[in-house]
Amino acid sequence: MVRVSVVCCLKLLLLLALGGVTMHVPDAGELAPLGPLRLDGHLSFHDVAAAARDFGNRCSMMPAAVLHPGSVADVAAAVRRVFQLGERSPLTVAARGHGHSLLGQSQAAGGIVVRMESLGGIGARMRVVHAGEGGGRASAYVDAPGGALWINVLHETLKHGLAPKSWTDYLHLTVGGTLSNAGVSGQAFRQGPQVSNVNQLEIVTGRGDVVTCSPEENSDLFYGALGGLGQFGIITRARIALEPAPKMVRWIRVLYSDFASFTEDQEALISTAKTFDYIEGFVIINRTGILNNWRTSFKPQDPVQASHFQSDGKVLYCLEMTKNFDPDEADIMEQEVGVLLSRLRYIQSTLFHTDVTYLEFLDRVHSSELKLRAQGLWEVPHPWLNLLIPRSSIHRFAREVFGKILKDSNNGPILLYPVNRSKWDNRTSVVIPDEEIFYLVGFLSSAPSGSGHGSVEHAVTLNDKIVDFCDKAGVGMKQYLAPYTTQQQWKAHFGARWETFERRKHMYDPLAILAPGQRIFPKASLPMSS
Ligand SMILES: Cc1cc2nc3c(=O)[nH]c(=O)nc-3n(C[C@H](O)[C@H](O)[C@H](O)COP(=O)(O)OP(=O)(O)OC[C@H]3O[C@@H](n4cnc5c(N)ncnc54)[C@H](O)[C@@H]3O)c2cc1C
Ligand SMILES: *[C@@H]1O[C@H](CO)[C@@H](O)[C@H](O)[C@H]1NC(C)=O
Ligand SMILES: *[C@@H]1O[C@H](CO)[C@@H](O)[C@H](O)[C@H]1NC(C)=O
Ligand SMILES: *[C@@H]1O[C@H](CO)[C@@H](O)[C@H](O)[C@H]1NC(C)=O
Repeated sequence: MVRVSVVCCLKLLLLLALGGVTMHVPDAGELAPLGPLRLDGHLSFHDVAAAARDFGNRCSMMPAAVLHPGSVADVAAAVRRVFQLGERSPLTVAARGHGHSLLGQSQAAGGIVVRMESLGGIGARMRVVHAGEGGGRASAYVDAPGGALWINVLHETLKHGLAPKSWTDYLHLTVGGTLSNAGVSGQAFRQGPQVSNVNQLEIVTGRGDVVTCSPEENSDLFYGALGGLGQFGIITRARIALEPAPKMVRWIRVLYSDFASFTEDQEALISTAKTFDYIEGFVIINRTGILNNWRTSFKPQDPVQASHFQSDGKVLYCLEMTKNFDPDEADIMEQEVGVLLSRLRYIQSTLFHTDVTYLEFLDRVHSSELKLRAQGLWEVPHPWLNLLIPRSSIHRFAREVFGKILKDSNNGPILLYPVNRSKWDNRTSVVIPDEEIFYLVGFLSSAPSGSGHGSVEHAVTLNDKIVDFCDKAGVGMKQYLAPYTTQQQWKAHFGARWETFERRKHMYDPLAILAPGQRIFPKASLPMSS
């Protein structure tokens, strides 16, 4: 009851703030033409519950309203209005991409959630420009709305025979959402993360200004927003670098029982000039059915042999890589792959491969999503932990975590692969370890049950043990998609870069209106209670 009255209060407050004087809770239709805030889209109150959910499924904060923007001007108008209300207003604004955050980062308690996907219109709003178009030597790019899903960016660019260069493992994420973090996958060792593959952004700042920025123009805001956790503005458009799209992909998995050989091979592969196009890896502890897990539908050419592999009682490491190819030149690919594989030290009987289209490969996790959804196993809590571990600590880390802290990997995949720091632009807001090579280690746990082994509590206990070990052993770890809740923790996370981050906040969102769910800068405001 208390909750309801607070929400109603906030609705009223919001209506008054936005210029509508109304004594009942209006529906979306009534709100559209609301007073001085003219919108191409609309504000709605009936879907606030949906905007209080995310993939992590562990945190739910009701917003007062959801903005379905019909234009960039709508986003700017809403933010500007909240800015004009001044620091005594408790209202905040959170851009919501696809809501795939883990702990409320795209939520806004009592504030306005901007449904970015409303601006993500498929195709029509995307503009693909080919290399050299307009007479210059410019490379190909696409201008994509901030709320576009990467899968739709891919569909659109493929029509032109082009594709972005750097990806995430899963494509039902938004352009603005991943660029606000980093966007890392098996291409990052060569292409850099997604934030290294953007030429220009259009941003609505915390003052409600619409600013175009790039390395040449308003570069401080450009770099700040990349990996900026939504703190400096709402990305409404991104210019993303493209390359000719590969047609087919040879997708390969091999197994190791020795961690040193596994990581040495990974490191050798990412340092070789002519190498695979995608390099990842994962850790398998005490599992049956090891080649398939929820995140892929890998169908090895020899499924019978593959099914013989179990990791019962031991730790195995799976190296996963791909080579792009044109079907007309399959034999060249075979040759190159043969040479690369001949240098690796995997268990010889464990070479599995399959050939799929580029689209099938990139969208691989979605097939698993559909299966899990059908079993009711997608919308469960996801107490994920993503760490960036410097190379110099990775062996110590592995010895402690795989087999000691973790007795099995039954609750979800454990990713582990190296990247090279030189591909990460240190002017962005992304925080990475201070070493040339570092590993991305992702513990992607699901918690389908309320108690016991499959519970959130169990996973969180293990996560805490892992983080504790890193802190005590001085591993030099940084968290990715960090779920910190206090400014103290964030300061430690940013280290020497905190000063720059804070300066940018004062510059671009001085009232701390944006992305309150990151819990970095609390809005100086009246207490929220009634
Ligand atoms: C199944 C799965 C697989 C994943 N795989 C990878 C992976 O391989 N690599 C990787 O790097 N990440 C991966 N992620 C994490 C992903 O990058 C984050 O979930 C990220 O938050 C993007 O999700 P989203 O687009 O739904 O954004 P949201 O979760 O909605 O938003 C993320 C944050 O950015 C802010 N934000 C959203 N849109 C904008 C915008 N347009 N402008 C400014 N701020 C904005 C939000 O307020 C919030 O603070 C994965 C996530 C899932 C669920
Ligand atoms: C990392 O990249 C830099 C720049 O390309 C390169 O000089 C260096 O050798 C790379 N390091 C490793 C270990 O591959
Ligand atoms: C595998 O599981 C068994 C039984 O739960 C456990 O005793 C053993 O330590 C596990 N092995 C590893 C490597 O964690
Ligand atoms: C970024 O890297 C360059 C070149 O390595 C270095 O000179 C510069 O000081 C670094 N800047 C920051 C902010 O760390």
